[in-house]
Amino acid sequence: MRVIETQDYYHMSRTAANIISAQIIIKPNSVIGLATGSTPIGTYEQLIRWYEKGDLDFSNVTTINLDEYKGIAPDNEQSYRYFMNKHLFDRINIDKKNTYVPDGLEMDSDKACSDYNRIIRESGGVDLQLLGLGNNGHIGFNEPGEAFEKETHCVKLTESTVKANSRFFDTIDEVPKEAYTMGIKAIMQAKKIVVVVSGEGKAEIAKKAFFGPVTPKVPASVLQLHNDVTVIMCK
Ligand code: GLP
Repeated sequence: MRVIETQDYYHMSRTAANIISAQIIIKPNSVIGLATGSTPIGTYEQLIRWYEKGDLDFSNVTTINLDEYKGIAPDNEQSYRYFMNKHLFDRINIDKKNTYVPDGLEMDSDKACSDYNRIIRESGGVDLQLLGLGNNGHIGFNEPGEAFEKETHCVKLTESTVKANSRFFDTIDEVPKEAYTMGIKAIMQAKKIVVVVSGEGKAEIAKKAFFGPVTPKVPASVLQLHNDVTVIMCK
């Protein structure tokens, strides 16, 4: 595991975007795993800038997002599909057909999850996975628990996650209580993983995740067992 400490959010984002760009330049039809949350927004901004300068071409790229709230429509401003369109897909030359996010409107969890497992399988596997880190150590929406959940599954979000994500909603009651998330197996099968972590508030959980024992109680700790992880951090 490589840990890079950068001087600020801008440099963290640039470093992450550099690794993603290199991946796309080396392999134009890369499958990139993407994350939501506020932390990767700067990385997406940087990728868009390079695209606008003509340095990057997304036309052959496929993206597979980590997660989506259950019971939320793609055009709902709080959905992760909406987030991705707004912060990246609408601003680059990616073919939207090749951008995957779990189907929040599919209320049959088994179907939503098996459909997504099939999409991941048929993509041929993720070349590079971008991750953020939840306040409680979650990755995607893999919440702390007794075991690492391998496949795409429907999670009941913990109280702390609902609270953390309520900042994007008008009231806490509007925050969905369930979500579909890619499992630990698909994340760990990515050839390369880049984690962006920003802010003093994440320092303690980052220390536990990347330097503490590997335990499903801190889901991100499993990344210590992957052979190509770059953690990019800033205060
Ligand atoms: C959500 C997402 C995670 C993300 C986390 C942290 O829970 N499902 O993928 O890493 O938020 O978000 P932020 O970067 O805003 O702290």
